[in-house]
Amino acid sequence: MAADEEPDSPTEALQTAAEEEETKTFKDLGVTDVLCEACDQLGWAKPTKIQIEAIPLALQGRDIIGLAETGSGKTGAFALPILNALLETPQRLFALVLTPTRELAFQISEQFEALGSSIGVQCAVIVGGIDSMSQSLALAKKPHIVIATPGRLIDHLENTKGFNLRALKYLVMDEADRILNMDFETEVQKLQRAALKNPVKCAVSSKYQTVEKLQQYYLFIPSKFKDTYLVYILNELAGNSFMIFCSTCNNTQRTALLLRNLGFTAIPLHGQMSQSKRLGSLNKFKAKARSILLATDVASRGLDIPHVDVVVNFDIPTHSKDYIHRVGRTARAGRSGKAITFVTQYDVELFQRIEHLIGKKLPVFPTQDEEVMMLTERVSEAQRFARMELREHGEKKKRKREDPGDDDDTEGAIGVRNKVAGGKMKKRKGR
Ligand SMILES: Nc1ncnc2c1ncn2[C@@H]1O[C@H](COP(=O)(O)OP(=O)(O)OP(=O)(O)O)[C@@H](O)[C@H]1O
Ligand SMILES: [Mg+2]
Repeated sequence: MAADEEPDSPTEALQTAAEEEETKTFKDLGVTDVLCEACDQLGWAKPTKIQIEAIPLALQGRDIIGLAETGSGKTGAFALPILNALLETPQRLFALVLTPTRELAFQISEQFEALGSSIGVQCAVIVGGIDSMSQSLALAKKPHIVIATPGRLIDHLENTKGFNLRALKYLVMDEADRILNMDFETEVQKLQRAALKNPVKCAVSSKYQTVEKLQQYYLFIPSKFKDTYLVYILNELAGNSFMIFCSTCNNTQRTALLLRNLGFTAIPLHGQMSQSKRLGSLNKFKAKARSILLATDVASRGLDIPHVDVVVNFDIPTHSKDYIHRVGRTARAGRSGKAITFVTQYDVELFQRIEHLIGKKLPVFPTQDEEVMMLTERVSEAQRFARMELREHGEKKKRKREDPGDDDDTEGAIGVRNKVAGGKMKKRKGR
């Protein structure tokens, strides 16, 4: 800004800067025309804050550590400069994106493909739980971008002839803190040390680490009534899409069975399911064929399912940071959403830690306790069936060791589902 145009007051200067940010386009950031068109086609009218901060630096070739709230477009912030650079100097095995979970790897690949469809970008997803042979073939074709979880990538680096990352120009670690906490720490840190040079930190965060449009509540209840309160809430908020987080695979499976027995369209996603079932569950939920996704923390990071209205922390997260990621599955990209955290007599300290981390005191989610108690009988019957199903399922699995992933969905349990009298409670008028 030239000296004679200097604004009269610092406030004015800030306003001008803010206004400039408001009106910035992808083109202003240095993104090439065909990619600007791709953004347009995805309905990205203007870049988000982290994209405004990170894209120009990335285009200059700087190394970046990017921090921004959930659902704020971090994927685009790294995908656009990579595609831009790829267009300038086309090359095979150009970029590697590491992610902590398989589902996230597929999602990131879809984002690259959506942005890069008109330029013919080729991606390969290299994750566990899937046939290794077909992945070796995909790698032999030398894609432009590899999106991988660390374990399977290391497998291929060690065992797939002719595959290496020597030509690599870009390395991204999405959810880097999580990746660096995984068991592959040494391998991944080696990669990172080799890669990061004088990184710039792009931190875009407001006062709160959770997003503004997220309404957060807690519910203080005795542990033994958790299931009943869950059913009550699902009835109260009927018509919404829910992600419900549980602490273990077993409880995720059990709760899914319980809800199905009560007639809810619930589906599980956890690490003891085969990869095809995991993706099947996720896709049914994404396609709105199921309204409730029950998941462990395998689904707490990065997943972008815009229609999620409510996140329920059925089991409180033990790591406060997971709270922020879990509740960030709703209220994404400027939408609104709700989060409800169950706090039992055992969870008070963990809950206080969460409130401390987000710097907020949460309000109580209002409930009519007499109405909740009216549900207890039907819920306990459904619990009984769920336990039976879980046991049968466990025995079946023992018998079928050779195909452990075959039956880990709850869909097979439909037979029992309608045995619980009445099924799903009727929605009350006016709600
Ligand atoms: N410039 C933009 N304008 C509008 N929508 C955008 C823009 N950039 C990205 N989005 C959309 O915002 C949503 C969230 O983006 P993304 O998944 O990249 O968020 P994130 O910051 O990585 O979140 P998380 O921390 O949960 O991983 C996606 O549906 C994406 O398509
Ligand atoms: Mg992300």
